[in-house]
Amino acid sequence: MAESIEGLKRTCRCGELSEQDIDRTVTVMGWVQKSRNKGGLVFTDMRDRSGILQVIFEEDICGEEVFAKAGTLHSEYCIAVTGRVRSRGKDVNKELATGAIEIEAKAFRILSESAPLPFPIESETKTREELRLKYRYLDLRRAPLQRNIMLRSRLAMSVRNFLTEEGFLEIETPTFIKSTPEGARDYLVPSRVHPGEFYALPQSPQLLKQLLMCSGFDRYFQLARCYRDEDLRADRQPEFTQIDMELSFVNVEDVLEVNERLLKRIFKEVIDVDVELPIRRMTWQTAMDKYGSDKPDLRFGLEIQDVSEEVKDTEFSVFRDAVAAGGAVRGIRVPGQGHMPRKKIDALVDVAKYYGGKGLAYLCVGCGEDGGHKCSFGKFMTKEQLDSLAAAMGAEQGDLLVFAADKLSVVRNVLGNVRLALGKQLELIRKDDWKFVWITEFPLLEWSEEENRFMAMHHPFTAPMDEDWQYIDSDPGRVRAKAYDIVLNGTELGGGSVRIHQADIQEKMLEVLGFTPERAQEQFGFLLEAFKYGVPPHAGLAYGMDRVAMWMAGAESIRDVMAFPKLKDASDAMMGAPAEVDPQQLKDLSILVDPEALKQEGPAETEN
Ligand code: AMO
Ligand code: AMP
Repeated sequence: MAESIEGLKRTCRCGELSEQDIDRTVTVMGWVQKSRNKGGLVFTDMRDRSGILQVIFEEDICGEEVFAKAGTLHSEYCIAVTGRVRSRGKDVNKELATGAIEIEAKAFRILSESAPLPFPIESETKTREELRLKYRYLDLRRAPLQRNIMLRSRLAMSVRNFLTEEGFLEIETPTFIKSTPEGARDYLVPSRVHPGEFYALPQSPQLLKQLLMCSGFDRYFQLARCYRDEDLRADRQPEFTQIDMELSFVNVEDVLEVNERLLKRIFKEVIDVDVELPIRRMTWQTAMDKYGSDKPDLRFGLEIQDVSEEVKDTEFSVFRDAVAAGGAVRGIRVPGQGHMPRKKIDALVDVAKYYGGKGLAYLCVGCGEDGGHKCSFGKFMTKEQLDSLAAAMGAEQGDLLVFAADKLSVVRNVLGNVRLALGKQLELIRKDDWKFVWITEFPLLEWSEEENRFMAMHHPFTAPMDEDWQYIDSDPGRVRAKAYDIVLNGTELGGGSVRIHQADIQEKMLEVLGFTPERAQEQFGFLLEAFKYGVPPHAGLAYGMDRVAMWMAGAESIRDVMAFPKLKDASDAMMGAPAEVDPQQLKDLSILVDPEALKQEGPAETEN
């Protein structure tokens, strides 16, 4: 039976006690991790968010009645124990932080009992995630998740402290807004007062923070909740948190500078990791060419090299034709892996195909039977040609060379992913390595095959690089942007840009993006209007806070650093959301849900 807490006061948390507290009388409150009865003794492991503590009930000390009640304890009962801290003597439990001591219970109360659990509360769990998310409040009792959620709180505090010290103001922006052009689908909220009209939940506070700059709050930040209706992955959730900031009267250097110090501070404070400053910088072009990705994992080498010139006149049509068609042939040199088993090479070919390649050609330098090369395209090239291709790659005897030939974008994507697969397969990645890099000079625009027009790579308010603006009409794809991403170990942690603050450039940009003046007015006329009244030059950046927490916690999934995450299909298994609502609610909102009519229209698209 549950007892009252009246008259009891917790003196400390379980994990806070140590040998220094021996002989103190304390009161701790928490959950029974496990309890076992051994003759005249009941051993109970008690747990709270700080850790586990052993409690001993000895009949001689606590009396018959208390002892009998202790015998009824089960896992996850919530209890309060008062007793004396004593040494465990030689029976130290090295697994526990409190393993040198225990509590000799004098009194205790069962604050509430627990029904049998749907799964055990243990650090290493085999329970499938769907079930754990259904009972997330129990899942969150597990030590690794407790640690992650506490880490996340420290991260938020560290960010707030640093930015506040640097003169940033924390300002909240609304979450019922008009759609922001960030690129994903919006979550919509119907209006009751304006039938048939909808608010959008912000994909980010982008336009609002720019307006705050117009208002003169020259340094803003917010731990902002953002919403994006996109396909979920291990590092994506439909609602997530950004560490969002914007600064006035700054250039790219200023933004990177303050953010490097932010990163150094938070990594030191939260997980005691020293971030080396300055953080390395790499242009987008270099990242794409050397690593086939705009978020390169720099914990290992295996850089991509261009051999188009070398192979363009050979008989191997795969290579020759790719170059002739304006594409490229590029390769990766894998030192000492010339004797990689066929099965593993085939697995790399599969990776290439998965990422859109037609194949993956390979050359094992000097690994043939007669001391020659072993090569998937050997019959199309002379020994001399193969030798000079190997030399062009800087290869040595016993190296493996892999090549992709295709359109440049395909070659980059294929080799970028083959590179990552090699990094994993050959175990080149050290878990305790922290390779930060700024990716700079992104293209301003990106050609969309689907839409047959240029789209903003970042967003329509990103400023072009001054020296490139002259090409906006003649060669728009060539114009680079004052945009930057911060990448850690192959993950994009955050990104931002200098914004356009000149009306003429903004107008031209919108024109290039295919906005008619009317549509621009309709979508973000309020921003264009605001910019008429003395807009300061400004720039900003936003981190995915969940991703930062994920790296800090060493978590595999973004869900492990969020208290109540959604499943892969964006549903909430615990609350059962999304859910149907009362017809009256729909009526109030002037919404008619007609599944039959929708069926006739065909299925909705799910890809973005
Ligand atoms: P961007 O769209 O690059 O920029 O987003 C910034 C960072 O937010 C994180 N992020 C996500 N995290 C979890 N789940 C998601 N679905 C998700 N989507 C994005 C990423 C990303 O780097 N307004 C601009 C920033 C600016 O220009 O100041 C913006 O939102 O870590
Ligand atoms: P094939 O002549 O089709 O047998 O191809 C010879 C070798 O070239 C095989 O190892 C293929 O995997 C490889 N290959 C085919 N297409 C490409 C491509 N686009 N890029 C790189 N290698 C390729």
